[in-house]
Amino acid sequence: MMDEIFGEENFLGQVSVMVNPKGRGLKGEDFAKTHEYLISYQGAERDETIGKEKSDDKVEKEYKEFDEEGNRYRALELRNTHKEFGKHNRKNLFYPFYVNDELLISLEPLKGYEVVYPVWENGFEGCWTWDSAKALRDYDLLVARIVNGKKKIYRKSYPTSQDGKRVKQKIKTIWQDKAFFTEKGKSDLLEVLPNCTFEFPKPVELVKEIISMFPPENLIVLDSFAGAGTTGQATVELNHMDGENRKFILVEMENYANTTTAERVRRVIDGVPNAKDEALKNGLGGSFTYCELGEEFDVEKMLDGESLPSYAALAAYVFYTVTGQSLDKDAAPSANFFIGETDLYDVYLIYKDDISYLRSNESALNQDKLDSIAAHNPDSKKQKVVFASAKYMSQDALKPHNIVFCQIPYAIHKIAGN
Ligand SMILES: C[S@@+](CC[C@H](N)C(=O)[O-])C[C@H]1O[C@@H](n2cnc3c(N)ncnc32)[C@H](O)[C@@H]1O
Repeated sequence: MMDEIFGEENFLGQVSVMVNPKGRGLKGEDFAKTHEYLISYQGAERDETIGKEKSDDKVEKEYKEFDEEGNRYRALELRNTHKEFGKHNRKNLFYPFYVNDELLISLEPLKGYEVVYPVWENGFEGCWTWDSAKALRDYDLLVARIVNGKKKIYRKSYPTSQDGKRVKQKIKTIWQDKAFFTEKGKSDLLEVLPNCTFEFPKPVELVKEIISMFPPENLIVLDSFAGAGTTGQATVELNHMDGENRKFILVEMENYANTTTAERVRRVIDGVPNAKDEALKNGLGGSFTYCELGEEFDVEKMLDGESLPSYAALAAYVFYTVTGQSLDKDAAPSANFFIGETDLYDVYLIYKDDISYLRSNESALNQDKLDSIAAHNPDSKKQKVVFASAKYMSQDALKPHNIVFCQIPYAIHKIAGN
């Protein structure tokens, strides 16, 4: 299903997460399930790789050597450590380096330099991990060492890339951490919403682990099945931890959207008086806007004329269509039909949620109505946009008043015409 939606070529990887170490074996089954899958697709080609940045601790432990400029690095063997690869199947990776007693490396034979091939102790002719062109390009990263009396070639590997970013660790395909167990999801939720009965919320640390694979700059985390709002809490916690400004969008269709999904995030932001965690107790900071979807516009319903949208609902809809902005308060019918304005537009709507009105001439834009609209804000330079089911005027008559006419959704007009 995911292949169909995102395209097979956008599949990135699949992780098995240990969620229940005891295992859940259904009656009659021989295996007890201890894991769940985490499946990853990309929406489009990306410049950045994903993966977790190495922590300072890890960098200190792993990168113990320092170059001339004092930067940490570790030396990795240039010889391919897999014996499946060698001169026999990787000819271009089998070539000599030349090393002198001061351990200077040359790619050309020089007097006093000893030849070094990627040959194993037992004489097996292996291969390098770089071809000779790459060795030439990245010559500065090469170092020679003497190990057990033999000259060997290494390459420097740095914890930060040239643009100063910390190198990322590849994502492992098995995740086993107590913080990811299903039972932790429940206790995380109850710490914030003690009486919540929401079943199987995800552990906050698991969602944090996922979000922290992505660079935080301009990141928007979307959870369109938000449930108990774990994703909101995880994003707020990460921002609190590293001072970044990741954004989140949570979508929930059930009536607990406000009382559970949004309420959990509100508490995490404002503070949870009984929380064990001190930071959570004081509130982690942040903000969000809670919105409810407006009345649905269902063309089928409009056509049967039984449930025409209210004036306020249609006004909100047409206003948004023309301006891309929301009306800040419900519009009500008025003598000049004005419903709202932006920097560029004044918007008007001639409409009643009454089928006989819509079928009558009264619902059309005529000279009288034009006069009252033209008299509203007469000095405004803005474009006036008038929505109505029909117009009994020529476009030329509208022009001098800087008015454009838009027919209200076609379906409504069609009923009116029937
Ligand atoms: C399994 S829960 C997600 C739990 C969440 N990961 C957490 O940790 O709390 C799935 C949620 O998606 C909601 N849902 C399902 N279909 C939806 C839809 N089409 N639009 C919005 N929400 C939807 C359900 O009401 C349910 O609350």
